[in-house]
Amino acid sequence: MKKQIHTLLTGIILSVGLSGISPQVMATTTVEVYKSPTCGCCGKWVDHMKAHGFTVITKDVGNQEIRKKVGMSESLGSCHTALVNGYVMEGHIPAPDIIRFLKEKPDALGLAVPDMPHGSPGMEGQRVDPYNVLKVNAPGQLRRDTEIYSRHNVPQAQKNVPPAPPTTTGNEPESDLSIMRLRN
Ligand code: CU
Ligand code: CU
Repeated sequence: MKKQIHTLLTGIILSVGLSGISPQVMATTTVEVYKSPTCGCCGKWVDHMKAHGFTVITKDVGNQEIRKKVGMSESLGSCHTALVNGYVMEGHIPAPDIIRFLKEKPDALGLAVPDMPHGSPGMEGQRVDPYNVLKVNAPGQLRRDTEIYSRHNVPQAQKNVPPAPPTTTGNEPESDLSIMRLRN
């Protein structure tokens, strides 16, 4: 439990400290995107990445084979799989999350946005759903065992809920802390 809180706090501190990164820093970073040649939302995500300064190489061979090869669980699967700086990026992840992740250089497999949430980059339209970017810590890790890296399209009502207290006595019942893993 304490480790979870520590991880959460570290995440908050890092995101505050790194929020000033210029997208230009990423101009020389190449992303290799595996997708189907006919996937429209994949193409839009590629454009989103380019707009944030990434150099993108597309491999129009589908993503099922590469996803299996690199150890991204099918339970985290989406329409495209990207490789960047030795990390795996599955699905419609917002570029700013990838930029932050590449700066942090965590010991992890990568990030994933499973399925294709409405309102994520490349999936813009009338409908906007909340979704989480998940941090995948090791090859083969299942969706249920991942950590939430960032939350998007959170309804205003949920945003106004006060954050969990930063310190604990260590005596709280487990259920008090389960809010941290909501929507995982
Ligand atoms: Cu898609
Ligand atoms: Cu895609």
